[in-house]
Amino acid sequence: MSESSVPPPSLLACGLPVPSPPLPAPDALAQARLLVAHSLKPDLVRQLERITGRRAEPLTDVPPPSDAPLLCVGDTLPDALRTDRLLWFHSVNAGTDPLLAGATWPAPALLTRTVGRMGERIAQYVLGWMLAEAQSVPEFTEQYARAHWERLPSELVAGQTALVYGTGRIGAATGRLLAACGVRTVGVARTTRYGPAPGTDRVVPPGFDRLIGAAEDTAVLGEARWVISTLPLTAATEGFFGASRFAAVRGATFVNVGRGATVDLGALETALRDGRVRRAVLDVLPAEPAAPEDPVWQLPRTVITSHSAGITTDEDIAVDFAACWEDVTTGRRPGLTVDTGRGY
Ligand SMILES: NC(=O)c1ccc[n+]([C@@H]2O[C@H](COP(=O)([O-])OP(=O)(O)OC[C@H]3O[C@@H](n4cnc5c(N)ncnc54)[C@H](OP(=O)(O)O)[C@@H]3O)[C@@H](O)[C@H]2O)c1
Repeated sequence: MSESSVPPPSLLACGLPVPSPPLPAPDALAQARLLVAHSLKPDLVRQLERITGRRAEPLTDVPPPSDAPLLCVGDTLPDALRTDRLLWFHSVNAGTDPLLAGATWPAPALLTRTVGRMGERIAQYVLGWMLAEAQSVPEFTEQYARAHWERLPSELVAGQTALVYGTGRIGAATGRLLAACGVRTVGVARTTRYGPAPGTDRVVPPGFDRLIGAAEDTAVLGEARWVISTLPLTAATEGFFGASRFAAVRGATFVNVGRGATVDLGALETALRDGRVRRAVLDVLPAEPAAPEDPVWQLPRTVITSHSAGITTDEDIAVDFAACWEDVTTGRRPGLTVDTGRGY
């Protein structure tokens, strides 16, 4: 993605745009020390060293001595490193909410993230659970366990409506895969895109039959057979799926592969108990990992899958970091830049 196609900056509460931080200057990048999280495997660290042409040092909560700028690769950023010395942080995860929550993000620092092939993986996870339900896999598994023969009808997903929240990397990959199976896909995004000229029709991203804003979803929630969330966790999406949204659902299965805290679990439970939500597939929970005594395990007609829909591989990290490095060193803003003002 070139600098010119980067989405417009978000707005501050006062309505002024949040300026994008400048790209790391070449001389600062040349001097930067490379700090990598302990969790990174030696092979991956060697690849990062090769890409950046310098030795890696451990990313700890004690900044290395000297005033040299810092280039960090990891999943968490200690408070002691949230200073003007931070030049660039590359997240090994796609969701950067833990980096942006709580302590202040040092405004001039670039934040990039890893997505890799997570879109494909998560799309296949979503389709897998949809087809399992449509093909009565839970019921047949239960029948098989008791050697019981009974014919059960199946559903065709083609022609059904899926409402997909988030049309970014993961939502778009999900939309494309579902569309390939004939599912009618309606995407929900934060920003409404019109074009090519202002005032003309809304631009619908590939993989979607229609694009709507979050405030326009009531009617489609009532038609949808599948409600799928790929939303990031931001101030605007915390508790996004609450009583009023679930009240509009009419028998859809709810699949959450975004972030757990976007869902009010009490409201989901009510909707499951009164049948408005048919089933729930939750890959993410507000509090992870869920302890065995956590009441979330008691939600009716629900499956929980330990935040595993889109596990990042070392190859994802190396490929995405190399692409970001190539962009930054040739003066382009990486497509995987996080807008720290809007929170994703
Ligand atoms: N389950 C897993 O294993 C797993 C793995 C990886 C990631 N994730 C989660 O998936 C999330 C999405 O990843 P991504 O790469 O697809 O992110 P992305 O490319 O940044 O896309 C985010 C999408 O969410 C939309 N959005 C944000 N705030 C919204 C709001 N208030 N109302 C409606 N739409 C809103 C954005 O709208 P615009 O297009 O208008 O900006 C965008 O379409 C990550 O943040 C992470 O939390 C989960």
